[in-house]
Amino acid sequence: TLQIRNNIKKKRSEALLGGGQKRIDAQHKKGKLTARERVELLCDPDSFVEFDVFSEHTCTDFGMENQKFPGDSVVTGHGFIHGRLTYIFSQDFTVFGGSLSSIHAKKICKIMDQAMLVGAPVIGLNDSGGARIQEGVESLAGYADIFQRNVMSSGVVPQISLIMGPCAGGAVYSPALTDFTFMVEDSSYLFITGPDVVKAVTNEDVTQEELGGARTHTTLSGVAHNAFQNDIHALLNLRTFMGYLPQSNQDPSPIRECDDPWDRDVPGLDTVVPLESTAAYNMLDVVTGIVDEGDFFEIMPNYAKNIIIGFARMNGRTVGIVGNQPKFAAGCLDINSSVKGARFVRFCDAFNIPLVTFVDVPGFLPGTAQEYGGIIRHGAKLLYAFAEATAYGGAYDVMSSKHLRGDMNYTWPTAEVAVMGAKGAVSILYRGKSDVAEIEKKYMEKFGNPFPAAVRGFVDDIIEPRTTRRRICQDLDKLASKKLSNPWKKHANIPL
Ligand code: COA
Repeated sequence: TLQIRNNIKKKRSEALLGGGQKRIDAQHKKGKLTARERVELLCDPDSFVEFDVFSEHTCTDFGMENQKFPGDSVVTGHGFIHGRLTYIFSQDFTVFGGSLSSIHAKKICKIMDQAMLVGAPVIGLNDSGGARIQEGVESLAGYADIFQRNVMSSGVVPQISLIMGPCAGGAVYSPALTDFTFMVEDSSYLFITGPDVVKAVTNEDVTQEELGGARTHTTLSGVAHNAFQNDIHALLNLRTFMGYLPQSNQDPSPIRECDDPWDRDVPGLDTVVPLESTAAYNMLDVVTGIVDEGDFFEIMPNYAKNIIIGFARMNGRTVGIVGNQPKFAAGCLDINSSVKGARFVRFCDAFNIPLVTFVDVPGFLPGTAQEYGGIIRHGAKLLYAFAEATAYGGAYDVMSSKHLRGDMNYTWPTAEVAVMGAKGAVSILYRGKSDVAEIEKKYMEKFGNPFPAAVRGFVDDIIEPRTTRRRICQDLDKLASKKLSNPWKKHANIPL
């Protein structure tokens, strides 16, 4: 038994070295941390408990029987983040390039299953050369086993991916199925096929970075939700991010002690909206003025900037913020902003995170590019997401209006609620008529104020901007006990 004990010790210390010191040095040279170093940074000190440290691959082809590393190419287990249980896998690039063997997939599936059983989030730290080439179909089967679990877990426990190295081919679809995907700048990339295959098939010359780097996915494709400078920065931001999320769809959002008085007046809001309704202002000033301590964790800050989404707290309680951004494209809704908003609203609703929506939108963006791109289908997603939402919280119609079961709707005195602006409206109603200045003025007098909506009860009150924080905090407190559910169905059919 002494021999067995020694062997256990030996294997355990071997596992800690992953693919060996030389490959660890190579990883560091690329500015990347090792799989274990990343887990240590992500978790509260000494809280990580590792599973399956003795697992080994079972491949006997291509000389693989002589190359085994205890734990194989992924570190799995659970730890605490701000004292809250979280399941984690961290792919180890130093072992066969972090490639996914059958046992690697089984290790990931094991923690995903346990996270579902106990109701806790799953975080994946991705750094992998893809399917383990020597294992062939076994490895592909492993991906499918993970995909199935990603889908079953969706809406039950939060799933977060952080891409910290290569992630290509079949490997991309697990992150894509998770709720949020973050990336590390310069050292991570996501693509279906790499630059060589692209060159062969479409004759395009493109670098890895251009094709699937952090910049591409956070500004152009919308595949990733944010990117961070380096491993350390990314992991620390991930810790902050996790502080907003509930453990599961059965669990309330965490409440953080808050020193920011809930009834604080925000005088700056009285003057934030310019008198001229076509002048731009920054909706982020409104959001950061209202939420606890000005803390706003923005999601997709560099994609579809005409809508802003993200997490904040009101009197300590997590809220999801959605706001039109007049600074970009006048805050118009278009295809990308609709999809960006819709997915966020659905995440929040799935996890009972109340939505606070800041509406200042001239309407949907007109034009052939939008119509051909399917703005009807995509705009419907945002509408659908708000209408389906039961977590409390249009354009006027589309953005969480009363008619879509928004619980409390306020306007500021500067608000205008109309089908369209005066110029557009009069040009349709009085086509061909030249002297329309007088009619436009009348239209403005009728619709250029909050009364038409207020007299019909479509908004609950017209409030002074400075009192907004207090009103929202009061409402969220009352609405916390709200009960509302949708009719039974197998699942709905959101316009995709
Ligand atoms: N299966 C098995 N081993 C793999 C692997 C895979 N999919 N990907 C990488 N490795 C191994 C390499 O053989 C190498 O082993 P070594 O340390 O014993 O020499 C090690 O992982 C590191 O890979 P390397 O190519 O030296 O690293 P790199 O940083 O230069 O390149 C990649 C990284 C991911 C770009 C490159 O390894 C690659 O293209 N891999 C294949 C990607 C792929 O097509 N996968 C299938 C898609 S589903």
